[in-house]
Amino acid sequence: MGSPACDLALFGAMGDLASRKLFPALYHLYRAGLLSEESRILALARRDLSEAEARYQIGQSLEEHLGASAVEASEVEGFLARVSYLRLDFADGMGYQQLGDWHHQGPGTNTLVLYYATPPALYDQITGHLRDAGCCDERTRVVVEKPIGQDLSSSRELNDQLAGVFREENIYRIDHYLGKETVQNLIALRFANNLFASQWDQNHISHVEITVAESVGVDGRWSYFNSAGQLRDMVQSHLLQLLCLLAMDPPSDLSPDSIRDEKVKVLKALSPLTPERISTHLVRGQYTAGTAEGVPVPGYLEEEDAEGPSHTETFIALKVEIENWRWAGVPFYIRTGKRLPEKRSEVIVHFKPAPHYIFDPDQKHLANNKLIIRLQPDEGMALQILTKDQGLSRGMRLRQGPLELTFAEAFETDRIPDAYERLLLEVMKGNQYLFVRRDEVEYAWRWVDQLLANCEECGAHPKRYAAGTWGPVASIAMITRDGRSWYEDA
Ligand code: BG6
Repeated sequence: MGSPACDLALFGAMGDLASRKLFPALYHLYRAGLLSEESRILALARRDLSEAEARYQIGQSLEEHLGASAVEASEVEGFLARVSYLRLDFADGMGYQQLGDWHHQGPGTNTLVLYYATPPALYDQITGHLRDAGCCDERTRVVVEKPIGQDLSSSRELNDQLAGVFREENIYRIDHYLGKETVQNLIALRFANNLFASQWDQNHISHVEITVAESVGVDGRWSYFNSAGQLRDMVQSHLLQLLCLLAMDPPSDLSPDSIRDEKVKVLKALSPLTPERISTHLVRGQYTAGTAEGVPVPGYLEEEDAEGPSHTETFIALKVEIENWRWAGVPFYIRTGKRLPEKRSEVIVHFKPAPHYIFDPDQKHLANNKLIIRLQPDEGMALQILTKDQGLSRGMRLRQGPLELTFAEAFETDRIPDAYERLLLEVMKGNQYLFVRRDEVEYAWRWVDQLLANCEECGAHPKRYAAGTWGPVASIAMITRDGRSWYEDA
């Protein structure tokens, strides 16, 4: 289904996020006929550009990010005809009236969607100027990117500022992981298959692993990253969202609030990492020089844009417990890091062994079923099951093998849409189910804040790991202490 007509005003339109993600996503929606004929886009940026120059640059960046073969000249032209450009100094209230004029000169029925693709430090100013220029009414939607604050109090402040002008049902807080097809698939997998629904608890599951690994380093963003670290940058948002989708109770329907109510219950039930638990439940790491995909790379402190010594973590592994009936005694081992051996995001659900084992004792280590959900790349899932080994000579020997579903092969999809395509489409449709509600953000910060405070109290500085390895050895020790191993080590 296409989207209703919208006027999309894109703040920071000539910036990195817009050129890497937003314009390519809008272009794909346009190509797929999912952008309403009446929808219009206003690119807003500080640069002194004519409309023709702005369109030219956006066209160039589409080619750069999608590849020349994926863009069709006539389609790019058709798409760019929808784009207008307005030079605006975001800090200066003067130009905002022109944005209002642009909207009012349109068809009149289009919903105004404001997308803040800018540093969060500008959100408040932009919101204030929009309000003063009378650009917003009770239908106006606003889309904001993470990070929503640096801690609970700054996130509250930012949420209060937004709430001063926009209604919560019109605020779309992006966590782009929620827009990934395979992440949404967790909902389908869990709640459309009774097979799993009946097994999804502490009676049947022994533990869960969530790995979000990246081979890149901090990618020219040292200064931002250094003030955040992997815990704030990745765990507070993406990994806790994944955890919520895996652990939440079934929502009564697919409405945004039913889903988000269930996620909030998980966040509230996260067991705090008290100072006594820090040494056994948390490992932080920072990469030193090593290799990335075979090429030598510098350490975090030697990156070109590095600004001196730092205790910021580029890797974190955590043992997370959820204090409720469903998950009592089931640890969720989560880890995420930069400069790991490969880019890979996956979830491994380890099921408990059968209550009574009757096969060769030397094969007992094979006895646990595993569900492997590959979020990226090679999107798909595999269920590791045990069968009898083939042949007359083997007796009742067991063999482990996967029931395998690779989405690209099974569904003959040539392209899995980027998360931003889905998210922009849902904003235009006015569906908030893939966006983060205020209380989710704040409960996540509450948990992260106590963790950071307790790390500070324990002086838990990051341990070194060489770029191109799976993080500090302490992260292996963390899981081995429980008699388990990370999936790739098994
Ligand atoms: C962003 C983080 O939110 O997600 C980045 O700020 C990280 O540090 C990125 O690299 C990872 O996203 P993806 O979609 O490439 O897994």
